[in-house]
Amino acid sequence: MADYDVIVIGAGPGGYVCAIRCAQLGLKTACVEGRETLGGTCLNIGCIPSKALLHASHEVHEMHENFAKMGIKAGEPEIDWPQMKAYKDDVIKSNTSGIEFLFKKNKIDWLKGWGSIPKAGEVQVGDKTYTAKNIIIASGSVPASLPGVEVDEKTVVTSTGALELAGLPKKMVVIGAGVIGLEMGSVYARLGAEVTVIEYLDAITPGADAEVARQFQKLLSKQGFEFVLGAAVQSAVPKDGGATVTYKLKKDDSEHTVEADVVLVATGRKPFTDGLGLADIGVEMTQRGQIATDAHWQTSVPGIYAIGDAIVGPMLAHKAEDEGMAVAEVIAGKHGHVNYDVIPGVIYTWPEVASVGKTEEALKAEGKAYKVGKFSFMGNGRAKAVFASDGFVKMLVDKETDRILGCHIIGPSAGELIHEICVGMEFGAAAQDIALTCHAHPTFSEAVREAALACGDGPIHS
Ligand code: NAI
Repeated sequence: MADYDVIVIGAGPGGYVCAIRCAQLGLKTACVEGRETLGGTCLNIGCIPSKALLHASHEVHEMHENFAKMGIKAGEPEIDWPQMKAYKDDVIKSNTSGIEFLFKKNKIDWLKGWGSIPKAGEVQVGDKTYTAKNIIIASGSVPASLPGVEVDEKTVVTSTGALELAGLPKKMVVIGAGVIGLEMGSVYARLGAEVTVIEYLDAITPGADAEVARQFQKLLSKQGFEFVLGAAVQSAVPKDGGATVTYKLKKDDSEHTVEADVVLVATGRKPFTDGLGLADIGVEMTQRGQIATDAHWQTSVPGIYAIGDAIVGPMLAHKAEDEGMAVAEVIAGKHGHVNYDVIPGVIYTWPEVASVGKTEEALKAEGKAYKVGKFSFMGNGRAKAVFASDGFVKMLVDKETDRILGCHIIGPSAGELIHEICVGMEFGAAAQDIALTCHAHPTFSEAVREAALACGDGPIHS
């Protein structure tokens, strides 16, 4: 008799969701977590704390930009940085303790410590060995390192150090114009820092729809961001309480240096599988260091599964959650499934950027016949009322069938608006289905409907 039906290694959004679903499906479940609190990177040092700081700093931005226009005289906002960090820590605590409550409620044992797998069917935590019919690895990811860049988490920081800066920087250099760089860069730009983003590619947000990326760069530039594109960072070295960054421009190979109080390295993450003992038990890896799995998240070793950032696919909490629920169902003998074609991506800047499905560039590369329906938030009454009319909804549909292939939104609450399209795509919706659906007025959602109308006979308000 095994100690458990399932032991999940890692209590991030992939692992804890998986453990809860396993328990709900009647499986005796434990979850191994070495951190002091549950929730993994996302709740402790990622999505959740960054959203708290984005929220607080956005309020500061609103005070600067819009309060006076609305007739509110609040004076110059004063930033109490230790208090802002304390608020962020409270948000983390209430979220992580919420997961602890859910574990108790679902009778999931939290095995405290770092787990390893001595052999299939066994998980070792500290000096204890537990047996399990199924093991699910949900060990997540860590920031990837960059040659020449000396991270000390004080002046040269990853996303982890960026949440804990001792003081507010006056000058910040961000390496990498991806999600982390632009979100955390936004926090400090709004709190008064001069932010320079150095990006290897010629556009920001790799993989995004190019039209959205261009508009996004324009809007961030308006907020004070400086972008150096087509530039490879060679080194970042802490020096005299600040740091020096050296980069080479790809166009002429010229070398440049820039000084900053703080340098944020945001050039991607890599799977975290150290210490699990996977090589010793023969778990196959991909060339990029991810755990290789089949369509049911089974690794090359029977009874060992893997999900989330540690395997192939976008490193997104909600992708990991979906895989966690699906693999629990597979283990319980049900039909777990993840539709990888409908996984939204959101950047929580101002404005927000959200997308799902194919970009226009991807459709062109496939040679697909498509139509574009676009609608600017300039034509949306609600957006105008709240100073949020910069941006647009862009819908991409099959030219023949009108079926939605992708949607890209830059604008207010884009991260919420995108889900109408996600649901639509899951149901195989055509743009007309959205266009014929009554949308409450005045809402930002009307812009989505107008983009759908733009795929047909045309929008009303443009
Ligand atoms: P990323 O992959 O989104 O962006 C990294 C950027 O760094 C790329 O644009 C790349 O071209 C650039 N780069 C790489 N080497 C460089 C060099 N030597 N010099 C200059 N630029 C260089 O990675 P990021 O932002 O670190 O995020 C990591 C992961 O975390 C991503 O998979 C992201 O999706 C996920 N994440 C998601 C969030 C969300 O959904 N809102 C929030 C935060 C992270």
